[in-house]
Amino acid sequence: MKALVLSGGTGTRLRPFTYSMPKQLIPIAGKPVLRHVLENIRDIGVTDIGIVVGAPDRHIAAALGDGADLGVRLTYLRQEQPLGLAHCVALGREFLGADDFVLYLGDTMLPEGIGALAAEFAARRPAAQLVVQKVPDPRRFGVAELDADRAVVRVTEKPDRPRSDLALVGVYFFTAAVHRAVAATGPGRRGEREITDAVQWLITAGAEVRAGEYGGYWRDTGRVEDVLACNRKLLEGLRPSVSGTVDAASRLTGPVVIEAGARVTGSRIAGPALVGAGTVVEDSRVGPYTSLGHGCELRRAGLEDSIALDGVTIHGVGGLSGSLIGRAARIGPGAGRHRLVVGDDTRIEVAA
Ligand code: TTP
Repeated sequence: MKALVLSGGTGTRLRPFTYSMPKQLIPIAGKPVLRHVLENIRDIGVTDIGIVVGAPDRHIAAALGDGADLGVRLTYLRQEQPLGLAHCVALGREFLGADDFVLYLGDTMLPEGIGALAAEFAARRPAAQLVVQKVPDPRRFGVAELDADRAVVRVTEKPDRPRSDLALVGVYFFTAAVHRAVAATGPGRRGEREITDAVQWLITAGAEVRAGEYGGYWRDTGRVEDVLACNRKLLEGLRPSVSGTVDAASRLTGPVVIEAGARVTGSRIAGPALVGAGTVVEDSRVGPYTSLGHGCELRRAGLEDSIALDGVTIHGVGGLSGSLIGRAARIGPGAGRHRLVVGDDTRIEVAA
């Protein structure tokens, strides 16, 4: 069995971050989403993994290399334009060969893993097995309708009037039968080559399509709110450890990780919280539900329920909350006035 991970796309909803990095590299609990994804795939024993990346992207290969440190073998497949999930499968045709494979959206977090679902697929080997979860409002997802025997009878992409509450979470198991379906289906009404159209083609052709329900925590990290919610969830499971230095005037409460080379002085860190390698926290309050990247510098700062990426500097500003702060951003006091130097599509909310 192989895997195809989709890490292209435009990531419009996560601008401005996606102007300078793919969203799949945004860290959740200190680790890029894509690493969480690859670990889940490795944990079901699949090591031969194709990654679809957007044409201009160099970041993913720089971050993951050949995958050896994760114990997997990565093959990069360039997608010139984000033409849809079925287009990605067509791109992977040669890499996938005649093997069964798991198709996994690279922005999808399933912290409980996919072991049970993979076992279910391996035991029965239907042409396709879709991973689904019940949601209150399925209109922004692909939706599966099942019969009494849990066979999928219809799939619809982002329906206005959903006929079931089972959303597709972004993980699909396929046999090689899907390639004929992908080749037979063109762009849908959104102009993209939809994987749901290929799955519907299989159903119409009489192939067996099943649904496996995932009962655990699931988030697609497409928006800032989702990224922060997911970070909170993963930080809850943090195993405390202190490798950096913490002075006697500082207090750590709850599960806190202080990575190697980090230095905490005169500060209060309320767990769950993660202070990344080489980060300096001085006379500050950090947490709960906060992760700081590598090489950040916080002095007389206050930050909770937030993620700071690598190299962030915050001096003399407290009360920050619910924030996602990009690499090497600098936040500090002005001379009596607010002064903003912000990029395109940035969002700023100040306490009135
Ligand atoms: P989406 O999040 O649906 O699409 P997007 O990345 O364009 O985001 P936005 O809606 O904010 O503009 O894509 C789901 C996953 O599939 C994501 O990891 C990106 C990936 N993808 C590709 O690799 N190629 C594609 O052609 C598309 C549409 C998505």
